Amino acid sequence: MSDRVVLIGAGDVGVAYAYALVNQGLVHELSIIDINEQKVFGEVMDLNHGVVWAPTPTRVTVGEYADCADADVVVITAGAAQRPGETRLDLVGRNVEIFRSIVASVMETGFDGIFLIATNPVDVMTYATWKFSGLPSERVIGSGTALDTARLRFMLGELYDVAPTSVHAAIIGEHGDTEVPALSSANVAGAPLSRDLDAVPGRRDEIERIFDETRTAAYQIIDAKGSTSYGIGMALARITRALLRNEYAAIPISTYLQGPYGVTDLYLGVPAVLGRKGVRSVVELSLTDAEAAGLAHSAEVLGRIVDDANL
Ligand code: 2OP
Repeated sequence: MSDRVVLIGAGDVGVAYAYALVNQGLVHELSIIDINEQKVFGEVMDLNHGVVWAPTPTRVTVGEYADCADADVVVITAGAAQRPGETRLDLVGRNVEIFRSIVASVMETGFDGIFLIATNPVDVMTYATWKFSGLPSERVIGSGTALDTARLRFMLGELYDVAPTSVHAAIIGEHGDTEVPALSSANVAGAPLSRDLDAVPGRRDEIERIFDETRTAAYQIIDAKGSTSYGIGMALARITRALLRNEYAAIPISTYLQGPYGVTDLYLGVPAVLGRKGVRSVVELSLTDAEAAGLAHSAEVLGRIVDDANL
């Protein structure tokens, strides 16, 4: 079987994702579409010059919508990005209109694979894609809190002097200001984080600082270099791997909730088991009352935005 990804959007995020895909040898074919034809031409040429050193070769091409017809995954990173001082939610109006036309163009080809969305506000844009495409919700997902979770795991790994891969913790809810760290179920190599919160002097403050930094990381990076790209690029590559290799890996992503966590008719970041057919199941973490209240608040904020967007 040949794995084909079509990427729509060759901005900083799209290119970082493309580079991660090629560098990790995750797909056989990658077609990249962008309204800036000169930019996409240059990016494709440049990426192709790295293919010889990759673990397995990827065929990277300048794409057109017709390529979506037999794509396994269509990834959308296109759209307006946050400027310094803007929140992710400030982007809704601009990006919903862009998505109306992108998703229609993809669906006109007869596309019947999986949509993976990264454009912000990602939970809203994923909901919009699900509505506009008419595909089953398990085949429309967003990067959600995968990146926030990676940031948290990285910083906890630094604190505990343990590889982030041995830190098990999830950020849930909106990929944005109302996100919630599910600390009560977090553990470092199996040792519960909650055990240290009161037992180790100063630990609670340190963890709070780490979560604060997780929540505001994108603002810091955007102020410093204009946009975030490598972290999200690698998160998208990880999600793509779980999908195409039918891994059944559980990754916090934006997925459609109709019941779990008491949330209805919303896309929200929670851990989900991913395979070749998209979302296989949603993982329901046990939450403390405070965590559940935080998630409910996140759902309420997103619910209002989705209602206002008239999707
Ligand atoms: C990020 O969190 C801006 O959503 C983007 O890096």
